[in-house]
Amino acid sequence: MILVTTPTGDIGARVLSRIAQSERPLRVVVRDAAKLPRDLIGRIDVVEGSHGDPSVIAQALAQIDSVFWLPPGSPASANAKEAYVDFSRPFCAALASSQVRHVVGVSALGRGWPKPAGHVTASLQMDDMIAGTGVAYRALACASLMDNLKRQADVISARDVFYLPTAGNLKLPHVAKADIADVASRLLTQTDWSGVDAIPLLGPENLSFEEMASVMTTVLGRPIRFQEMSMEDFGGMMQAAGASEGMAAAMVEMFTAKNEGMDNMVEPPSRAITPTTFRQWCDEELRPVL
Ligand SMILES: NC(=O)c1ccc[n+]([C@@H]2O[C@H](COP(=O)([O-])OP(=O)(O)OC[C@H]3O[C@@H](n4cnc5c(N)ncnc54)[C@H](OP(=O)(O)O)[C@@H]3O)[C@@H](O)[C@H]2O)c1
Repeated sequence: MILVTTPTGDIGARVLSRIAQSERPLRVVVRDAAKLPRDLIGRIDVVEGSHGDPSVIAQALAQIDSVFWLPPGSPASANAKEAYVDFSRPFCAALASSQVRHVVGVSALGRGWPKPAGHVTASLQMDDMIAGTGVAYRALACASLMDNLKRQADVISARDVFYLPTAGNLKLPHVAKADIADVASRLLTQTDWSGVDAIPLLGPENLSFEEMASVMTTVLGRPIRFQEMSMEDFGGMMQAAGASEGMAAAMVEMFTAKNEGMDNMVEPPSRAITPTTFRQWCDEELRPVL
């Protein structure tokens, strides 16, 4: 049986719907079962509670052979270590006495970056902790998510502009959540893999935020502008949006590392596993929310 965590989240919900189509026995661990898709009620096993809770995750792992693991990275956590590493500790402890053979975890690009990188550093520590339990593990080493731009939907709608603390002409990889869910679902339904590895998920091409603004302009049919903001303002914006001081500082550290080249250290032979272009993402995912 496959266990899916965060079945109500953007990535987890897509993983759930893809695996549900495979007719494989399926369980979810969810804080509020009323949020699950109605058509799945009665068709899948449900354990209610947080997957960060020791007794909940121990119960959820019974008779499970494969797990989709996503640390929510709650902005209210005191810091990134608490949000990723400490959150995942009960899971790792419960793996020891479980029958789980395969884990697919949502993580980040940046292995080998020599400086602290906030959320990324903590995600990589989580990967090491999961791998250390002896399960076969695939870390989905995600670039920045195209979907992050939806958080600025209101400002884009009102003022035709979006803001980030990065030079407008710096080309970076960006991946769509839909592609992450596709890769995760394939790994969970075809478990012919072993050992420990990270799979870089970079999207089809590197783009600068100015280039992204130009694509948005074409797709949305009105001029959209990118405006660089200072790191200080960015940290303040994170806290105003509800992040703790520690989580806002972790975001600043991560963006600083991205600006200095952390996401440009790997170039896989092919990017075909993450085919969604930014234009397609704007058309299918951004336009409907604006
Ligand atoms: N943003 C980026 O550029 C980037 C890059 C690389 C990796 N990532 C990773 O991508 C992931 C984000 O995934 P997403 O977009 O699918 O997240 P999301 O849409 O924000 O969903 C969060 C999910 O976590 C659940 N959740 C929140 N707090 C919880 C808690 N305390 N206990 C149990 N469940 C909790 C939510 O459930 P409820 O319905 O109960 O609230 C929801 O299902 C993170 O792991 C992040 O580190 C992000």
